Amino acid sequence: MDKDFLPSGWGSVAVHAGHQQDPKYAHLVPIYASSTFVFDEAEQGMRRFSGKEEGYIYSRWGNPTFTEAENKIAALESFGIMENSSPLQVKGILHASGMAAITTLLLSNLKAGDKILTHYSLYGGTEEIITKVLPPLGITAIITDLRDLNKAEEAIKKDKAIRMLYIETPANPTIQCVDIEALSKLAKQYGLIAAADNTFATPYLQQPFRFGIDFIIHSTTKFLNGHGTAIGGILLGRDVEFMKTKAYTMAKTLGGNANPFDAFLLINGMKTLELRMDRHCHNAMEVAKYLSAHIAIAKVNYTGLPEHPDHSTAMKQMRHPGAMLSFELKSGLQGGIDFMNKLKMCVRTVSLGTCDTLLSHPASMTHYSVPKEEKIKYGITDGLIRMNVGIENIQDIIADLEQALN
Ligand SMILES: Cc1ncc(COP(=O)(O)O)c(C=O)c1O
Repeated sequence: MDKDFLPSGWGSVAVHAGHQQDPKYAHLVPIYASSTFVFDEAEQGMRRFSGKEEGYIYSRWGNPTFTEAENKIAALESFGIMENSSPLQVKGILHASGMAAITTLLLSNLKAGDKILTHYSLYGGTEEIITKVLPPLGITAIITDLRDLNKAEEAIKKDKAIRMLYIETPANPTIQCVDIEALSKLAKQYGLIAAADNTFATPYLQQPFRFGIDFIIHSTTKFLNGHGTAIGGILLGRDVEFMKTKAYTMAKTLGGNANPFDAFLLINGMKTLELRMDRHCHNAMEVAKYLSAHIAIAKVNYTGLPEHPDHSTAMKQMRHPGAMLSFELKSGLQGGIDFMNKLKMCVRTVSLGTCDTLLSHPASMTHYSVPKEEKIKYGITDGLIRMNVGIENIQDIIADLEQALN
């Protein structure tokens, strides 16, 4: 795309942003499967190491295939957002996984004595790092219900050691949402760093930078890749200087770098994000309506339904409530197991963000060994089923659910 052509449509940005003309005129970015990069002469090596000349040195530090993916996601997360009358500048660092991106975020911003304010229902790996891995390093977490802004402010006022607000919205598996704009404002007011996990929504449905968030992380493993072909993650920040210095140093020394093949898969997956999400979202709404009317179902958690407690929060900050939902079977644990076993087209697995419909039963799978009281705290009942609604034809998804429910 010519540098002076500014596309006005989200889908055009998803297709073209981040791409640079290949020196050998390949149409698509090549997979730069090279651990290291050569210097024309020793002086060039010196200039690159000293930062006087831009250029690649070693793939743990950066690679042209990563750069295209980083720039594409940065363009999508900042699309249409202005800051001080100029388009928002954002820098991304691609990682081996969502967890690697979260680790860089936390360790480049926090030190011993600092605290993180966050909410229940985080992704399990994020909760584990915050509550088990970081405390021996002197970084601890306060977990509260951040849907209640008074509780959030009370917690911040009570503890001067809180340095970061960390949110995930919508969150696992009850699809709870928190108010990004109100919480970002609170973070600004009290001098906190605000970070958001935007994995479930994707930048097509929700742009946390628009609401004042400082850092965004994604598990690109999910909807951004879109086909379940690679694990990956990204950390994006609106403080470009911080991203180029502290965050970059942390990322390259921790060594959780991406690899060129996975970056290539991610780049190509993202080109169809708008198309896929429109279909995912349309199907999810239809499934939510179908399940809500089914006699075997006690409850449907989908923010597109007006009765969901976070419906208005979701609609305020999201283009559409998304592709993830969960529902409770009246028949409990055994009913959940039986239902899962009867599925014929929809797939029994964890994870999300793929073209096919995926279902998991937390009580017999991801949360099998979690004590019952803990499960209840997180809204995980015995009959709860989590669903990533895919892009198959809607009549087939509903037919499969129907035969498994009846
Ligand atoms: C919301 C969310 N954030 C982060 C992660 C971690 O990402 P990864 O598995 O790519 O490390 C996941 C993984 O499922 C997730 O669902």
